[in-house]
Amino acid sequence: MTMDRVDAYIGSHSSDFEEQLKALIRIKSISAQPDHDPDTRRAANFIRDDLAAMGLATELIETKKHPIIYAEWPGAPGKPTILIYGHYDVQPPEPLEPWLSPPFEPTVRNGNLYARGATDDKGQMFTHVKAVEAWLKTYGRLPVNVKFLIEGEEEVGGASLAAYVPANKKKLACDYAVISDTSQFAPGQPAITYGLKGLAYFEVLVQGANRDLHSGTYGGAVANPLNALATILASLKGPDGKIRIAGFYDQVKPLEDWERAEFAKLAFSEAEFQADLHVPSLEGEAGYTTLERKWARPTCDLNGIFGGYAGPGPKTVLPCRAGAKLSFRLVPNQDPTTVARQFKEHVDQVCPPGVTYDVLIHHGAPAVLVKIDTPGVKAAVRAIEAGFGTRPVFMREGGSIPVVGLIKEHLGVDTLLLGWGQTDDNLHGPNEKFCLADFHRGIRSSAHLLEELAKEKA
Ligand code: BES
Ligand code: MN
Ligand code: MN
Repeated sequence: MTMDRVDAYIGSHSSDFEEQLKALIRIKSISAQPDHDPDTRRAANFIRDDLAAMGLATELIETKKHPIIYAEWPGAPGKPTILIYGHYDVQPPEPLEPWLSPPFEPTVRNGNLYARGATDDKGQMFTHVKAVEAWLKTYGRLPVNVKFLIEGEEEVGGASLAAYVPANKKKLACDYAVISDTSQFAPGQPAITYGLKGLAYFEVLVQGANRDLHSGTYGGAVANPLNALATILASLKGPDGKIRIAGFYDQVKPLEDWERAEFAKLAFSEAEFQADLHVPSLEGEAGYTTLERKWARPTCDLNGIFGGYAGPGPKTVLPCRAGAKLSFRLVPNQDPTTVARQFKEHVDQVCPPGVTYDVLIHHGAPAVLVKIDTPGVKAAVRAIEAGFGTRPVFMREGGSIPVVGLIKEHLGVDTLLLGWGQTDDNLHGPNEKFCLADFHRGIRSSAHLLEELAKEKA
């Protein structure tokens, strides 16, 4: 059969693929750190060169920050066109101390490849590159038309791609979009993700007096911006875990009964989840299970807080400024712009007197929900069954992938979110990993996906 030879190529090149992935991972493409801009460009060149070597027409598109890679194989007229997205940039590895092996020296332990970017997203993105290679090296053709769109700013908000997609609708036109930048449900249980959360990210800066003051001589008479900040932040959530911003829940799409029933059937143990994290109890919005909270309910979390004295020993100071970074994860139908307005109005109401404040709005993204009763999803189910030997389950995710909203809005296409990672891969944290067996199963699934999508109508 057609796929046997492609599968054989994948099987006989597994160690080459691993070595190539390691070489890509060694490149420190940390998009947030300007010191690494040359490395970030090297990673883009590496992928562009690999795609060019296998016969794709490639382009390195310059942007204000990091280049976008575009590559296409348009040689299957009358067949569907698949747009494959990935990102080659990675999160900063800091803090370095908890890493058991250096973040940019990929190291295999227990069948897992440990390194920054191993799963997010170099390893996952690379599965599609190698699947296309397997087809082209075996048959000199693909069963469908393929377009790759690989960016280097995903971890810093994706501004360049957000401008590129609407300006290049025709070039990027496709029948199906595919992204592997999520995870499976559990080891041995692959999944198709049909929902992602959105994001609204803010910074609140509070200013008090024109200089730091002695907290004895001025305390109690002059407002303390750290105290004021604490008041603001404490007002955001009630003891029931509900966010207390007027209108915040108005647009929230409720979980449907069938979803709650399906989530409840998944083999998820709240006790094991809790034990793994060493927390005394699980917390969250009243009336929802842990999976429902993680996947389908909006959340509010502080991401950083600063101000005053945090060095060794005490210092009796009344600081003159304080600030916090915080973010809301949004669910379908919530609009990041509306949430920004509601948040500003809320801060205005609760900010105590005696200080001034400023709210900065960082990048946002809408949540997404994709239909699961579609030919694309059915093809993906068959492909994953071929690659993993098991039928995937359907899940949602708490993370965000901004490009999925862009693809829907500007190209009119729902994305197939086929995650090959595991939920404990520690993406963004120390000791990020990717299971090498999943890497190879992902390559196989991707190769089969092209064949399965070719059977569906364009
Ligand atoms: N790959 C992640 C998204 C993700 C996270 C999927 C967790 C599944 C589970 C992506 O690279 C990411 O980090 N997204 C950011 C979005 C942001 C920077 C706009 C996120 O979710 O924080
Ligand atoms: Mn990612
Ligand atoms: Mn990420």
